[in-house]
Amino acid sequence: MSDAIIQFEKVVKTFGAQTVLAGVDLAIPAGKTTVIAGGSGQGKSVTLKLILGLLRPDSGAILKEGQDITRMGRKELNRVRTDFGVLFQGAALLDSLTVFDNVALPLVERTKLGREEIRQKVVTTLGQLGLEGSEEKFPAQLSGGMKKRVGLARALQLQPKIMLFDEPTTGLDPEKSMEIYQLFHRTQRQYGYTSIIVSHDIPKIFNLADQVVILNHGRVVTFASPEDIPRSEDPEIKTFVKKTMGDVYLSKEMEHMP
Ligand SMILES: Nc1ncnc2c1ncn2[C@@H]1O[C@H](COP(=O)(O)OP(=O)(O)O)[C@@H](O)[C@H]1O
Ligand SMILES: [Mg+2]
Repeated sequence: MSDAIIQFEKVVKTFGAQTVLAGVDLAIPAGKTTVIAGGSGQGKSVTLKLILGLLRPDSGAILKEGQDITRMGRKELNRVRTDFGVLFQGAALLDSLTVFDNVALPLVERTKLGREEIRQKVVTTLGQLGLEGSEEKFPAQLSGGMKKRVGLARALQLQPKIMLFDEPTTGLDPEKSMEIYQLFHRTQRQYGYTSIIVSHDIPKIFNLADQVVILNHGRVVTFASPEDIPRSEDPEIKTFVKKTMGDVYLSKEMEHMP
């Protein structure tokens, strides 16, 4: 795929005798949302770490905008990583800092912007994410959903080209999870970054995906449309669908199917 911002070519990743990825081909389209799903231990987090260059594959290539990151040294990798924003399970906020200071941190540490410019940027992002008025609160005073929003606000400060989310709604109830996913969706459209979301929240999140990738026993299957998943003839996917979706999977379109 020519518009792929990230591309895996025959990627193999093992740990000792365990094969996690057995020659995976994968294309992540730029400016879209890709959801990576799959059972526990199927290699979803490993895939994100490979994309960030935190792990190296045994063989195969991982291209970011056409450049193979598996062949890069530390310095080059660090430069590549500045294009990524990450939001992992815990949101990883610093408890001793206010919401404002947590979100301002990347700008203070990584840019030469002045105080007023930083204030403007932080206040604007907080407003976009529905966090106005929370500037002076500390993480302990926030709800789970608000913490995720603050984590996203912070990750957005350096204008990432690619955002990686690893099970970002862990700890939230289903309603709050959907709210957060809708916010991610809106924010992605607004900022235009490429979004890669590892999620357990199946099947609802599929409706917010432009592409769904299912990891299963070292292989990936890519679905251009979430609606195609329950129609798959692949026995492994069928099992996955049965286990994780059951009868609850009814998208708008499918409700009208006989
Ligand atoms: N650093 C590591 N060393 C050894 N085994 C690992 C390491 N990281 C992950 N694994 C193993 O690889 C498999 C996939 O892990 P992971 O990607 O974290 O799964 P998940 O799909 O639940 O995110 C698991 O069996 C895990 O135990
Ligand atoms: Mg994981």
